[in-house]
Amino acid sequence: MFHAFLKQLKRPSGLLGIIVARMMESRNRKYYDKAISFMEIKNGERIFEIGYGPGVGIELLARNYGCYIAGIDFSDLMYKKATERNKEFIDAGKVDLKYGNLLDSDLDSAKYDKVFCLNVIYFWNDLNKAFMKVSSLLNDNGIYFIYMTTAEELTRLGFDKEFFKYSVEQVESALRQAGFNKVEYEKDNGYYIKAWKC
Ligand SMILES: C[S@@+](CC[C@H](N)C(=O)[O-])C[C@H]1O[C@@H](n2cnc3c(N)ncnc32)[C@H](O)[C@@H]1O
Repeated sequence: MFHAFLKQLKRPSGLLGIIVARMMESRNRKYYDKAISFMEIKNGERIFEIGYGPGVGIELLARNYGCYIAGIDFSDLMYKKATERNKEFIDAGKVDLKYGNLLDSDLDSAKYDKVFCLNVIYFWNDLNKAFMKVSSLLNDNGIYFIYMTTAEELTRLGFDKEFFKYSVEQVESALRQAGFNKVEYEKDNGYYIKAWKC
C-alpha cells in the first residue's frame, strides 16, 4: 500500500491520485511561497514549471505577476486538475499547460527566462539528460530553480522506492555538467537551488 502511495507521488492517477493531489495542494504551498520569492520574478518574464501537479504554483504566479506562464506534467489527472484550477488564466492566454513527459517532449522553440520545478527531480534517474533539456528551454541569460527535500528527510519518511535520493552536491555537479555555469543554494527544510546558464 505504501509503495502504491509513493507511485502516486511520481505520477498521480485515479482515486488515490485525487487524495495525493489534495495533500500536495495543502502541504506544498509553503514551498511554493518560498520558491517564488527566491525566484525574484519580474513582470513581463516568461516562466515554465516542470511537474506542476495540481497547479498551485501556476495559480500563485498567474494571480500575482504580469508574466506568461507555461508548464508540463505527465499525469493526465494533474493536467486536468491544474487546467480546472487555472481556467480563467488559460482562457485569457496568460497560462499554457502541456501534458507530457519533459524528457521526451517536443516543446515549442519559444524560450523562457525562468524554469522551475518543486519535488520533481527525485523521479529522474538521469539528471544530465533532464538538465540538458531544461537548458534548451531557457534563453541565454535564463535561470533554473529547483526545490528538493533532503535525502535524509526522504529516508526518514521511508521514501525508498520510486525516489532517487540526490545530495545537493550531486545536483550541483550534474547542473555544471549540463552547462550551468553558476550554481547557488539555500537550505531551509530542503534545498532551494538556483542555476544560471551564463
Ligand atoms: C511529487 S509531485 C509534485 C507536484 C508539485 N510540483 C508540488 O510540489 O506540489 C511530482 C509531479 O511531477 C510530475 N512529473 C514527474 N516527472 C515528470 C516528467 N518527467 N515530466 C513531466 N512531469 C513529471 C508528476 O506527474 C507529478 O505531478
